[in-house]
Amino acid sequence: MCGIVGYVGPRDCTEVLVSALKKLEYRGYDSAGIAVFENGKIEVAKTKGRLSDLETKMEKEGKPNGHAGIGHTRWATHGEPSDVNSHPHSGRRVTIVHNGIIENYKELKQFLIDNERTDFLSDTDTEVVAQLLDFYYDGNPVRCIRKVLHEIRGSYALGIVFADRPETVYAVRCESPLIVGQGTGEVFVASDVPAIIKYTKDYYLLEYGEIAVLKNGSVHFCSLHGRMIDKELHTADWDEDSAEKCGYPHFMIKEINEQPTAVKTTITPRIENGLPNLEECGITPEILRSFNNIFIVACGTAMHAGMVGKYVIEKIARVSVTVDIASEFRYRDPLIGENDLVIIISQSGETADSKAVLNLVKGTGAKSLAIVNVKGSSIAREADMVIYTHAGPEIAVASTKAYMVQLSVMYLLAFEMAFAKGKISEEQCRQLTSELVSMPAKIEETIGKVLDTCQYVSTKLITADSLLYIGRGLDYALSMEGSLKLKEISYIHSESYAAGELKHGTISLVEDGMPVIAVATQNSLLEKTVSNIKEVKARGAMTIVICDEHADIDRDAADYLIRIPKLNETLMPMLATVPMQLLAYYTSVNKGNDVDKPRNLAKSVTVE
Ligand code: G6P
Repeated sequence: MCGIVGYVGPRDCTEVLVSALKKLEYRGYDSAGIAVFENGKIEVAKTKGRLSDLETKMEKEGKPNGHAGIGHTRWATHGEPSDVNSHPHSGRRVTIVHNGIIENYKELKQFLIDNERTDFLSDTDTEVVAQLLDFYYDGNPVRCIRKVLHEIRGSYALGIVFADRPETVYAVRCESPLIVGQGTGEVFVASDVPAIIKYTKDYYLLEYGEIAVLKNGSVHFCSLHGRMIDKELHTADWDEDSAEKCGYPHFMIKEINEQPTAVKTTITPRIENGLPNLEECGITPEILRSFNNIFIVACGTAMHAGMVGKYVIEKIARVSVTVDIASEFRYRDPLIGENDLVIIISQSGETADSKAVLNLVKGTGAKSLAIVNVKGSSIAREADMVIYTHAGPEIAVASTKAYMVQLSVMYLLAFEMAFAKGKISEEQCRQLTSELVSMPAKIEETIGKVLDTCQYVSTKLITADSLLYIGRGLDYALSMEGSLKLKEISYIHSESYAAGELKHGTISLVEDGMPVIAVATQNSLLEKTVSNIKEVKARGAMTIVICDEHADIDRDAADYLIRIPKLNETLMPMLATVPMQLLAYYTSVNKGNDVDKPRNLAKSVTVE
């Protein structure tokens, strides 16, 4: 989704804004622009396309030169991607950048037209806000912003400059995330920390309805009611390297390789004397014993982590788990009861639909638990309990390491819950936990083992129009993510199917040469899965089978075998996901796609 940046300080503002926007490219965008004070006047440069297009345009037409300004990458919602729809947008004296959606922009536009404000240039909701700010501007920027915030409805973060307030940037947030970075004698605004980490690790989290005023290298905050606010300064616990490729050709492959460390950092502080212990997250055995039903709600990859969680929690802790897509759950009037637990999984902690679920839980008596990667994000702050995953910043749009750490938390939770409920003995819990502890080394081993094969097999996938992922039980839950990963970045149509369900329709799609990727890591279901593999093979499919190193798979069932280390079958998803990530990655690379920034997708979906 859109990215916002802002800067006030001694550096070349245009350079800072463009470099910060480059760090937000992962969010997805189709146009870019900046507004900079040059000799007391606001100069705007914007264009449809990538940041490199903006740079080329500025080289040709002149680059704004100054020390304070705002910048934006746009992911089109209202109005097609075009130069004129790109941000910044201006009223007569006000220029803004915006992330989010203004729901009542049509009525506000009509109000402005009725008041003889007809000079609209774009199709965007953002321009309406710029004009509205301008309409109410009486020389007091904060009062004007407050007035407008009372009138607009929706989810938004705004960066604002007023023509008669040179060298000053205003920022405000409602729903869409925004941080303010504090350097030495300079201040920054950004949608996310990676944008500013090159300049400073210290930042403030802007809360709902707070206004930040950046001036003379420092910042002050006030509330919607005009009250001054003191805010806590946070320090990022990762550095610029984490947000750089560090020699890897793409962030995605870097992040795949970071998985062992990410899992280790996530699980180590939650294991004590060989047993899971989530007390630092406010989760005690008593609490874990108290739930009747569990709902796991999330979007995209995070929802797929929840699918694996369902199988594991039900299997080991014997608690009923329902997994839902957040955009469905929030509108389907779910039957949440007093002793239920609603788990929201989210890498960013800002996904609009997932966040909305928290409001639904309030008042039901159920407890909410957030599993979130971004510290201080909205979902983390609003949930009753939070387990942070420690994946570090994930830049590639296609999620890999965030999914892996979400899985690791699902296991910790399942093991501790099962033990707390007396469904497994202490010894069994220790055994499972020790296998989880061995996971970072096993993931590393798996990457080394399967990398070449995946690279080779991916060359067989690039010409496919469509393919299938099949599996049973946990393998089915996992294959959903494998299939999503592939379609996100290779643009090849792909479906995941429960292997046993194939015969009820989908097998009719199988024809000569169609790739079918079968995940067969569940020993208890192996024979049945192999039968399904043979069924598709007999109909001409090219079969690629992911299984453990000892699995007994007939050579004639698999065209390609990808073998991974063997663990307790419940834990196999964490290893089996690795070849699926690599298959997707290399297929995308071989097709010459933009691996880290696939078309039409955004990393953080902050609107409905
Ligand atoms: C987008 C991203 C996915 C992510 C999903 C949910 O679709 O491209 O990678 O899984 O949003 O995001 P969240 O931040 O809530 O995990």
